[in-house]
Amino acid sequence: MRPEPDLRNLEAILDFHVASGVDAALDEAPHDRFAESAAEMASRQARQAPPIQPGERPAPACPAAASSPAASSLAVPAVNPALAASAEESALVARAAARAATSLEELRAVLEAFEGCALRLTAKSLCFADGNPQARIMFVGEAPGGEEDRAGLPFVGRSGQLLDRMMKAIGLDRGSAYIANIVPWRPPGNRTPTPQEAAICRPFIERQIELCDPDILVCLGGPSAQALLGSRDGILKSRGRWSEYATGTRTIRAMATLHPAYLLRAPHQKRLAWRDFKALKAALEKKE
Ligand code: URA
Repeated sequence: MRPEPDLRNLEAILDFHVASGVDAALDEAPHDRFAESAAEMASRQARQAPPIQPGERPAPACPAAASSPAASSLAVPAVNPALAASAEESALVARAAARAATSLEELRAVLEAFEGCALRLTAKSLCFADGNPQARIMFVGEAPGGEEDRAGLPFVGRSGQLLDRMMKAIGLDRGSAYIANIVPWRPPGNRTPTPQEAAICRPFIERQIELCDPDILVCLGGPSAQALLGSRDGILKSRGRWSEYATGTRTIRAMATLHPAYLLRAPHQKRLAWRDFKALKAALEKKE
């Protein structure tokens, strides 16, 4: 007869997982990621892929890219973090890949095939964007959380619901705004993306902004403001100030505001966000 499981042990094991950042089951059965990477490395070596040199244009389409119709026509880099010598190299590869995408659909396909950011290994989904790509206003947050990862869409959890209410207060919804994140994969345990992860993913969000071509860019929270607006001040200081953002094809207006997740923790600061949202509304009305 099978022994009864020791419930105290199970609890301790679960506590250990949660403390290590494993707070969501992504599949029915566990995955041995070590075995998966070893097999991938072996198959790459068998194909004798030459190592990527700094500044060199990466190898042709990888198998994941071939499965996507939009990606099959693109030169999508096949770069594994183990092969890329550094985050800078991955960022270079990301830049070339992002540039190659000529539409948002192609950019999504490129990201789906991109292997230069290890976050994709622990995330269930790519959370590319939600909303209307033709919108005049684009909101960019930090990174997806657990609910976003499960849904494959940005800002659908509690902070997304607050964002919806904030947008509604100035007459916006997901049909009149476009929403994305600086990092499209959920960091384990909802931690803040590392500067390396943000740097690797930055070419993709920059290209996404360029292809979406909004009139107004809104950075939600400090990490987004730092990544896109080069802001060095804390978000409480930098929020609410208009600045300019060069998309690559033109210069648009940009503003950082408080992240809805922060507002859920500090509701007394909502009055500051409301001030920012009123300024956004006025700017949208002025240009119409
Ligand atoms: N927080 C973010 O920054 N982005 C999301 O998509 C969800 C929560």
